[in-house]
Amino acid sequence: MTMVYSPGLDGVVAGETRVSCVDQGRLLYRGYAIQELAEKTNFEEVLHLMLYGELPGEERLQYIMDRLDDFRALPEQVYHVLQHIPATVPMMEVVRTMVSFAGHFDPVEGDDDEAIRQRAIWLTAQVPSIIAARHRLLNGDEPVKPRRGMSHAAQMLYLLFGEEPDDMTADLLDLTLVLYAEHEFNASTFTCRVICSTESDLVSSVAGAIGALKGPLHGGANEAAMRMLLRFKSADEAAKWVVEALERKEKIMGFGHRVYRHGDHRAHILEQKMRKLAHKKGQDHWLAIYDAVRDPVRRLKNIYPNVDYPCGLTYHLMGLPLDLFTPIFVSARVSGWSAHYLEQSRGNRLYRPLSEYIGQAERTVPPLDER
Ligand code: SDX
Repeated sequence: MTMVYSPGLDGVVAGETRVSCVDQGRLLYRGYAIQELAEKTNFEEVLHLMLYGELPGEERLQYIMDRLDDFRALPEQVYHVLQHIPATVPMMEVVRTMVSFAGHFDPVEGDDDEAIRQRAIWLTAQVPSIIAARHRLLNGDEPVKPRRGMSHAAQMLYLLFGEEPDDMTADLLDLTLVLYAEHEFNASTFTCRVICSTESDLVSSVAGAIGALKGPLHGGANEAAMRMLLRFKSADEAAKWVVEALERKEKIMGFGHRVYRHGDHRAHILEQKMRKLAHKKGQDHWLAIYDAVRDPVRRLKNIYPNVDYPCGLTYHLMGLPLDLFTPIFVSARVSGWSAHYLEQSRGNRLYRPLSEYIGQAERTVPPLDER
């Protein structure tokens, strides 16, 4: 057996997958290019593609929509616990806790592939309900009762704000869910697969993945990138700051990627829609600040935006609170995590890498009175 050591498993192939293909040249979900999926499908269709391996026809799409609607209501115990989590607890930590707690009220029986798929649809429906109920509680508002027949994205906004969103807003949120749904062996998906490889359950695998996604080097970057932009009053101020930050060797949130060294396919897709939204809202000054940060990072470090950079500003322009940015990422990525859980649980081999020991040379234990 050849031992290979690569920090962060950089460049190491840790498994085979049929779920997606991520490389500089393309991003495919089960063989479909992300550019086509972004243009021609919605999140419910991608959810079906993730779980069943194929895009749904009209009947199967209606089935997925109906099942999501069946699973949206929160168990009253979940709502009760939500009221007791301190108001200062960030939404990502609330989602991590509540997905785990909601698992005690999992309505799906069994552990065969179809039961896992149903549990994945249930989790996909529960996460937005948890996020919205918590958001409204913090604002002193009662939860909104889910309304059947809306798209998943429209429902999320309806549960959050109590009114049906306009099509453009719902479509843009839906696009971000499609873009965020899946991305091969990223840190949170790999976490999910490692937990699954011990033959643990889907809820445990998703709860662990949420913990991984929370970090600003991963999913937390969309919120961190927007927090960075909010510091600037002008493009000049932003440009000055970013050059100095790079000199200080600071990591600019929303930039760079372990796989994409010349740009993230998803960022290109989302940026175009983000610009249109800014124009429509008369917020072009944000685009000047956005570009004032992006251009020096590219010019000085040859580093490009990843999906989180345009997504942060997009959610801000949509009026979504910062604390919801990464939780919305979770609500999409449950679909990808679940697809990987299903795949891992089939041809499984426990993940147990080696490590290079660089600690103390072997030594004997001294008696207590000599330590
Ligand atoms: C996501 O893996 C996935 O697929 C993840 C994701 C998904 O859909 O699941 O795509 C989602 O997590 C996107 C990434 C979101 N994170 C951020 O935006 C945080 C900022 N980015 C960096 O921390 C970094 O780019 C990573 C973590 C994303 C990738 O880091 P790597 O591959 O470990 O690269 P590295 O840290 O080894 O950096 C290589 C060089 C270094 O410079 P030198 O020390 O060689 O001089 O590039 C520099 C780094 O300092 N660099 C950056 C930078 N990212 C890398 N410099 C400034 N700003 C950055 N953002």
